[in-house]
Amino acid sequence: MKSFVQYTPTRIVFGRETEGQVGALARQCGATRVFILYGGGSVVKSGLLDRVCASLEKEGLAWKTMGGVQPNPRVSFAREAVKQAIEFGADFSLAVGGGSVIDTAKALAHGVANPDTDIWKFWNREETSSAALPIGVVLTLAAAGSEMSDSAVLTNEETHVKRGLSTDLNRPVFAILNPELTYTLPKYQIGCGVVDIMMHTMDRYFTPTEGNELTDVIAEGLLRTVIKNGTAALENPQNYDAMSELMWAGSLSHNGLTGLGAEKDFAVHQLGHELSARFDIAHGASLSAVWGAWAKYVRPQKPERFAQFAKNVWGIEETDIDTAGLAAIKRTVAFFKSLDMPTCFSEAAEIGVKTEEELQQMAYGCSYRNTRTIGSFKVCNMQDLSLIHISEPTRPY
Ligand code: NZQ
Ligand code: ZN
Repeated sequence: MKSFVQYTPTRIVFGRETEGQVGALARQCGATRVFILYGGGSVVKSGLLDRVCASLEKEGLAWKTMGGVQPNPRVSFAREAVKQAIEFGADFSLAVGGGSVIDTAKALAHGVANPDTDIWKFWNREETSSAALPIGVVLTLAAAGSEMSDSAVLTNEETHVKRGLSTDLNRPVFAILNPELTYTLPKYQIGCGVVDIMMHTMDRYFTPTEGNELTDVIAEGLLRTVIKNGTAALENPQNYDAMSELMWAGSLSHNGLTGLGAEKDFAVHQLGHELSARFDIAHGASLSAVWGAWAKYVRPQKPERFAQFAKNVWGIEETDIDTAGLAAIKRTVAFFKSLDMPTCFSEAAEIGVKTEEELQQMAYGCSYRNTRTIGSFKVCNMQDLSLIHISEPTRPY
């Protein structure tokens, strides 16, 4: 086990009707003027936004709302939000929505606390942010895990670059998790969420680090839980127990717990970000579209790890490690298909990569113009990336 620091300062308030506590929680965290961000309108339609505002009102807090955050949130929108939040005199950033809204609320938090710096400079590693407003979350979608994570992902639509910023300043002070708020989700978003939750754990589980028994058991248990309840949630999106398991798994999957003491990989996430930046494909779908090809390419690096995954996640009892590992890849890809998620480029209408030249451009972009490698389970350079991409459309599962 490698040395680690685990810092999870987010207060989780879980259960039915917990959104009614948002005002009290914000006040306890020192808020007086709350800037509320939301997305394209699902929280207006459901009445959630009104309930949130009423709760703030009840606690005597001033508030202002701004809707319009898009999936794969844009830096231009975040800049405008920063401007309005500064004019309003916000001292608290509140997200009511999924990962895109939360990440924009995080961007806003940095922007307001650093009014003289363009926020993209933080994401582009030109400047380091040393301050941010406190961030609160009312979660409506179990997926990104941003409600407990140290990360915020933004897209620069001018340069087609999607990039994450990781800092403890991004960890929300509280997150309200009421599974009933997810009942209105379209099935496509539930599928995307299930893939993303699994991938936050799998991008940690496939690690070069040896001997991490407890972390492995936590990761394997989380994956089994998400697989079981993901299917149940799709059958009935109003299944409280299934939605509860997904929601809690989503938070735990990306707060660091499922990879403690191990080196992270995250190559699949980097490949997915490249696809989303170019084609605006939903994050979960971008991950399911590349995982099978990635897994098949990197498995020979450590076949016994895939065999462990086969046994402990999928219950595959095969003793030959190569056969077991390949069977587990097939089972995982088949599971993604059962969620109606794309499992190769040709299954995703958004992905416009058809020619070999376009595939090479993808690899060039993902390797930051051949200046970085990604992953740790197998360290992948630009050539590896083009092989992963090239192998994929011609050999779908
Ligand atoms: O915008 P509205 O109208 O609210 O609709 C949203 C949106 O269209 C809808 N939705 C959310 N809750 C709903 C609902 N519709 C009906 N009922 C509800 N209860 O779902 C759509 C997608 O929302 P979005 O927030 O984009 O989804 P998600 O939570 O999957 O977030 C994806 C973003 O998070 C980033 C992704 O890259 C992507 O940009 N990630 C952030 C991470 C982090 N900060 O730690 C880690 C992740 O790996 C990921 O990269
Ligand atoms: Zn993700």
